[in-house]
Amino acid sequence: MKKKIQEALNDQINKELYSAYLYLSMSAYLEAQSLPGAAKWMKLQAEEEVEHAMKIFSFVNERDGRVLLAPIEGPKQEWTSPLEVFQQALKHEIFVTESINNIVTSASDEKDYATLNFLQWFVAEQVEEEANARENVEMFKRVENNPHGLFMVDRALAARE
Ligand SMILES: [Fe+2]
Ligand SMILES: [Fe+2]
Repeated sequence: MKKKIQEALNDQINKELYSAYLYLSMSAYLEAQSLPGAAKWMKLQAEEEVEHAMKIFSFVNERDGRVLLAPIEGPKQEWTSPLEVFQQALKHEIFVTESINNIVTSASDEKDYATLNFLQWFVAEQVEEEANARENVEMFKRVENNPHGLFMVDRALAARE
């Protein structure tokens, strides 16, 4: 595996683990806001991000590359509203999509077809991640300043397995 690609994949492992850390911090905030359903949703999302990191971790090893773990940045701890949390989660997913797309471009430039093929799963996953994040933003927008609506949205998010 070329050094440039290895570095990009290591950097992506860091971004996925940071995503998990950020979503866990969001989950803690939502819990403190008495929104257990939204907190559960975010906690499950954090677990998915760890799985993403581990997929890349395994791939780098499989390709005889070297996984080098870097420090994970501390996440934000406070937000002004649940809507702001979900807006930032969407913004973060768009940032991750860009990052994946950049690695796809590099893998294509380097004619690294194995990495290119591997990344297709992430390209499809990001479509889903952004769609879910957008749906959540829309839900929270609809119930702004509506405690009963917020209660219903929280109940809906609690249904995630
Ligand atoms: Fe991810
Ligand atoms: Fe994600």
